[in-house]
Formats: sequence, structure tokens, C-alpha cells
Amino acid sequence: MESKTSTPGTLRILAVCGSLRKKSVNAAVLRAAARLASSATLRIDSALDIEVVLATSLAELPHFNEDDDFPDAAPRTGEARESHPAVARFRGELTLADAVLIASPEYAHGYPGLLKNALDWLVGSGQLVDKPVALSVASPAHLGGFRAQATLLQILQAMNARVVATANFAGIRAKLDRAGEVSDESTLSELRRILEALAAAVQQKRESGDERIDSQSA
Ligand SMILES: Cc1cc2nc3c(=O)[nH]c(=O)nc-3n(C[C@H](O)[C@H](O)[C@H](O)COP(=O)(O)O)c2cc1C
Repeated sequence: MESKTSTPGTLRILAVCGSLRKKSVNAAVLRAAARLASSATLRIDSALDIEVVLATSLAELPHFNEDDDFPDAAPRTGEARESHPAVARFRGELTLADAVLIASPEYAHGYPGLLKNALDWLVGSGQLVDKPVALSVASPAHLGGFRAQATLLQILQAMNARVVATANFAGIRAKLDRAGEVSDESTLSELRRILEALAAAVQQKRESGDERIDSQSA
């Protein structure tokens, strides 16, 4: 196990998108979060720089296979074995992140297999354990993907992630401008709330001296 300490004064949020669609509304939600983080409108310690960094596309991850899962980068057999490069990169991004923001669509009342696959790669390696996580779902439908959110929550809790905020953006298409960006003030306000909750959770961890991120190296 390697210990890594995040840079004091900065807070890195890894943005994970559950959609691959070019005009994804969930990707638009994450872009809005990134814009808000770099603006001065958040109610957090002004000495803290928040950056929202987009994770590697989940499409690069191979299908999860326990035979190819080397969570500790240590050989399980006599042969040295390494994780798939995309898996190692994704785990590394999570290791370096203080917090995670997941944005997911709902498909057929569930959440995307893409996201389930990505999460399965983290079960054994543990990058989400005790990590502050915010979970956003966005859908053009009026219920806003609450069923996907409910199941995702159960899975994140099973993985011992510290889920500190959730948001459900129903009717999201009406909240985008002509360029496909989030322009609606109530949506932006919800996103501010989520970012502030993540920042508070990270600061609380740091103040309690629990700022080490223990994980395998990237
Ligand atoms: C196969 C399929 C199933 C869908 N099922 C649901 C659903 O169960 N609930 C829902 O709210 N929207 C559903 N939708 C609509 C998606 O929420 C919508 O396409 C959304 O824009 C996808 O997210 P994205 O824009 O981030 O790609 C479905 C769309 C597709 C293509």
C-alpha cells in the first residue's frame, strides 16, 4: 500500500460520467459543476481551490473479470501480473482525487452497465472506501432517474463510499441552453450544494487528520 497526500489548499473532485453520448445531459451537468468550482460562488473556505477533473472515459475499461483483477498490484500467483492500463489509470485518478462526483443517466429503470463495470473494478482495490462521493442523476423524464439513483446508492454504500450528497435533475433538457449547457439557476444552485457538501466532507477528513489516501499506486 502506498500513501498519498493531496495538495493542501486544493480539493480535487473526480467527475465520473455514466453516459458516453456526445450530447449527454449528464456530461453537461459535470461541465457545469466544473465551471462552478472555478467560480467564486461557492460557500467554502476561500483559501481552498476546487478543481473538477473529468475521469478517463469509462468506455476504455475492459469488462470486469476477477481473473484479471490485481487490486494490490501484487502477484496472486508466481507470475507478476499487472492490471489493464485503463484500469490502473482509472484507479490512479481516484487515488489522487479527494472526492468524486458521479453523474448518471437511467436506462430501463436501472443505471448504466458502463458505470457498474467501472465500480466493479474498484471493489477489490478499494479507492472508494471512505471517499466523499456525490451522486447526481439527470433525465429528461419528469421522475428524473430516481430508480437508478436508488440502486446506485445501495452499491456505493456496499463499497463503503461516503455518499455525502445526492441530486436528481428531472426534466433536464428544459434546463439546458441552446449550446447544451446547464443554464437554469435552480440546477446550478443544486450543483453548488453538492460541491459544498463534498468540500465540507473533505475538510472534515483533513481536520480529523484522516487525509491520507491509502491505495495501490496508479
Ligand atoms: C435505452 C434507453 C432507456 C432509457 N430508460 C430511461 C429510464 O428508465 N428512465 C429515464 O428517466 N430515462 C430513460 N431514458 C432516457 C434517458 O434518460 C435520456 O436518453 C438521457 O438523455 C440519457 O442521458 P445522457 O443524455 O446523459 O446520455 C432511456 C434512454 C434510452 C436510450
